[in-house]
Parts: sequence; C-alpha cells; structure tokens
Amino acid sequence: MKNLNGLLNISYPIIQAPMLGVTTPSMVAAVSNSGGLGSLPVGGLSPEKTITLIRETKARTNRPFAVNLFAHSVETRVSEEDLRKMENYLRKLQEKYRLPFQHKALSDYHFYNHLDQIDILLDENIPVVSFTFGLPETQIIEQLKEQGIKVIGTATSVKEAKLLDHAGVDAITAQGIEAGGHRGSFIPGEPLPQVGLISLVPQIVDAVTVPVIAAGGLFDHRTIRAAFALGAEGAQLGSYFIAAEESEANEGYKECLLHSNDTSTELTRAFSGKWARGIRNSFMEEMNNSALNIPYYTYQNSLTTALRAYGKSNGINDIISMWAGQSASQSKRGSTENLFRELIAQIQNQSNPIF
Ligand SMILES: Cc1cc2nc3c(=O)[nH]c(=O)nc-3n(C[C@H](O)[C@H](O)[C@H](O)COP(=O)(O)O)c2cc1C
Repeated sequence: MKNLNGLLNISYPIIQAPMLGVTTPSMVAAVSNSGGLGSLPVGGLSPEKTITLIRETKARTNRPFAVNLFAHSVETRVSEEDLRKMENYLRKLQEKYRLPFQHKALSDYHFYNHLDQIDILLDENIPVVSFTFGLPETQIIEQLKEQGIKVIGTATSVKEAKLLDHAGVDAITAQGIEAGGHRGSFIPGEPLPQVGLISLVPQIVDAVTVPVIAAGGLFDHRTIRAAFALGAEGAQLGSYFIAAEESEANEGYKECLLHSNDTSTELTRAFSGKWARGIRNSFMEEMNNSALNIPYYTYQNSLTTALRAYGKSNGINDIISMWAGQSASQSKRGSTENLFRELIAQIQNQSNPIF
C-alpha cells in the first residue's frame, strides 16, 4: 500500500484543514504549492459558488488540493414550534443591532449537500475529495475512485472509522475532541463521540485498513510527532492557520484567538444546531441559559446567518462563531506559506525527524 504522500501526490504529509468561513483559495494554493495538501471547504455552498471557488484555486496552483464536502442528509425532524420560538429570540437580538428581520416559513428553507455538488467535482477532476458530517454513498465513492480521485472521510470514533473503511475511502481523518469547528460525527441516535486524539488515533489505526490522518490540537513538531507515534500517517491542522494573512477570519476573531488559552473554547450547538468547538462568547452563554430547544442543523445555522454576517463585518465578536480548537492560542500571524514552511523546518530540524 502507498504511503500518504504517494497516495495524495504530496511532498509532506501535512494537510491544511478545510475551514468554511476561514479558508480561501489563496490559503489552499499556498499550502499545496509548498508541498502539503491544501483543502478547499465548499460544504453546504451552492453549485455556482462551488465552481467559482474551485476555479479560483485552480488558477493559483497546479499541485493537488482537496475539496471538502458535507455528506449529511437533510434533517427532517425539525419542530415548527422550536423554530418559531428561536426566531422570536433571535428577532430581539437582531432588533438590538437594527437588523431587518424576515420570518421564514418551513418551506422557505433550502439546503445544499454533497449530492448537489458531486457532479461539479467529477467534471472539474478534483484530485482529492474529503467528506465530513457523514458516510458518503458507496456509489459516489466508487464514481470518484473510478476517475482516479482520492477520497478521504472524517471519523470521530472507531465505529465511524470502520464504516468509512468498509465504504471504500482511501484515507480517514481521525478528528479528536480537541479539534476546532464542527464535529464530523455522523451516527444518528448515539451520544456525541468525545474521544481525545491520544485515544482515538491508535484505536482507529488498529481497526482500519487505510492510512489515518490525525486532526485536533496539532500545531508544532511535538504534537505532530506524537500523532505519528500513535500510528497516524498524516497531520491535519486547522486553527494553526486561522490568523494567517490569507484567512477570511476578521481581525477581532484573529485577536481573540491569539489571546485565547487552553480553556477558552467549548462545544456548542448555539450557532448552527450541530456540535462545534469555538471560543466562548456571550451568544453561546446566552443560548445555554435560554432553555430554548435549538433546532437541528442546518435550520439553526440558517436562522443565525444574518446575525453572524453582521457581527463579522462589524467586528462584533459577541455574535459570531469563532470556531477554534483547544490549541488555538498557538495560531500565528504571517503568510500561509511562511507558517507552513516554518512548521516543516521545525520538524526537519529535529535530530530524528519524522519525515
Ligand atoms: C474555523 C473552522 C472551520 C472548519 N470548517 C470545516 C469544514 O468546513 N469542513 C471540515 O471537514 N472540517 C472543518 N473544520 C474542522 C477541521 O477540518 C479540523 O478537524 C480541525 O480544524 C482540527 O483541529 P484544530 O483546529 O485544533 O487544528 C473546521 C475547523 C475550524 C477551526
């Protein structure tokens, strides 16, 4: 079996995590051009936006990069009463910021998922496709693989990893509880897996037949060496790149991240309805104390969109989702290329480098 570098046609087994709302085509290209694997997040975006971002990335690099999709099925269990109560709650907040409010009927919600985007990825002949939030259909995995496209799935438990392995993915990202952003967990009706990376990686490595990529809390030669010692063949870093020049995160988010510490983040459903790790802020706290039932993803995500967009463009950290992992304070300013090269140099300057 090929190692991860051979499989993905990269020089270093370091992957820049897809981060919707943060990763830009320039960030992806900077990592891929430097010998790692950049990942372009397009989960939940319209087909038109998906094509635009892919073409912008292709214009900046000839090296392999991944495109990342959300493989979730659209949730139908939503209660209209919960939606109405949440709308009323958010309406008051929007009024505080003088934001116009528009009631949405259940029939007004429209969500995209991987099924709306997969033909684009096939047509564009993307080298690597990564999935989170679900188990992609076997037929889709086969279609991608028949075209020589490598497929990566995300697991947060051994059970999920085995399902992905059985479905035929080429590699599995093991996402520890330290990780920033949404949990990739996808088995309905089970308690949310909350396994730390040190437990997760070796147990997944022993249970599957494909290379494992570790994700969650990694930021330097020590943390990456630890992941490799546990059997990972690749390391995926997200938060490390959030304060980079090419990041779409606004200045307030970057500052908050750089001044955070190991206990600044928590898991929340407040912004999107799906569990995700971010820097604690007053919106999260108020939602915890509201006793409201938070509508499931992606209804809640849609309900908070206007507020988050306003917060992002006006630098109001209290109402934006500042997704970040437990090592977020180790993020650094600088160009993505320099951040990536510093990391590689640090790893290779060790007396016994891992690669
Ligand atoms: C801001 C942000 C957005 C994210 N968006 C995505 C996404 O769109 N798709 C995905 O598969 N993972 C997403 N993730 C999770 C990352 O892929 C990865 O698991 C995580 O960043 C690793 O942990 P770290 O942040 O501690 O490095 C996101 C993470 C962050 C911090």
